[in-house]
Amino acid sequence: MIKRELLQTVTVPGSTAQMTLQRQGKEYSIWVDGVPLMTTRQSGSEVALAELGCAHLKGKADGEVLVGGLGMGFTLAATLGMVGPDAKVKVAELVPAVHEWNRDLLGEFAGFPLKDLRVSVDIADVADVLRSNPNRFDAILLDVDNGPSGMTQDKNTWLYWPEGLGVVAKALRPKGVVAIWSAYSDPAFHKRLLQRGFKVQEHQVGARGKGGGSRHFIWTAQK
Ligand SMILES: C[S@@+](CC[C@H](N)C(=O)[O-])C[C@H]1O[C@@H](n2cnc3c(N)ncnc32)[C@H](O)[C@@H]1O
Repeated sequence: MIKRELLQTVTVPGSTAQMTLQRQGKEYSIWVDGVPLMTTRQSGSEVALAELGCAHLKGKADGEVLVGGLGMGFTLAATLGMVGPDAKVKVAELVPAVHEWNRDLLGEFAGFPLKDLRVSVDIADVADVLRSNPNRFDAILLDVDNGPSGMTQDKNTWLYWPEGLGVVAKALRPKGVVAIWSAYSDPAFHKRLLQRGFKVQEHQVGARGKGGGSRHFIWTAQK
């Protein structure tokens, strides 16, 4: 068994949560308060989040997408493959260190998507980016926790309840789509999306994409 090394520990801004970057052989992982948030070992469902959330933008030259948060850049890289040459892709990432890790140690895993000129990064809470950009995005790809409940910070829970979903809806253009990633099924969340007036589909995807792996869940909800 290869030993896992702790590379860096940072405090999540605005909370007491500790985020760590760890390495085990060639594999890197990000943890929050001792719970794994993600690893470089599997990225199939992170890629599927972009494919499902941006399917309606395929073939369009422009469009604006919000990716929250950056993680290891897999969703961002897949988004860049889905949108056109004049598209703009904004990333909202809460933790400055995650941005730094993606520019060096983690960058190669997703092919350094931050170098793409269509990308801009806001080091900010995605909730604030949503609030300050009404009627702006054609797609919003949300993967800030392990599912529709605050994990990286408790206040993320707000996003998945009526008030937060209302702000998400306002940030979308007409017919815009929000896609939400989850490690688990959540029928009550599905119902809240419907109650907010979204047209909702639940997708089950393998953690390793077509290669299988444990089941992850993605909701696509169209305004
Ligand atoms: C599971 S990872 C995202 C994985 C990403 N989809 C990928 O493909 O690598 C979650 C990310 O969201 C960030 N995050 C958590 N809460 C946030 C918030 N409120 N606003 C912005 N980013 C947030 C975390 O710091 C972390 O980088």
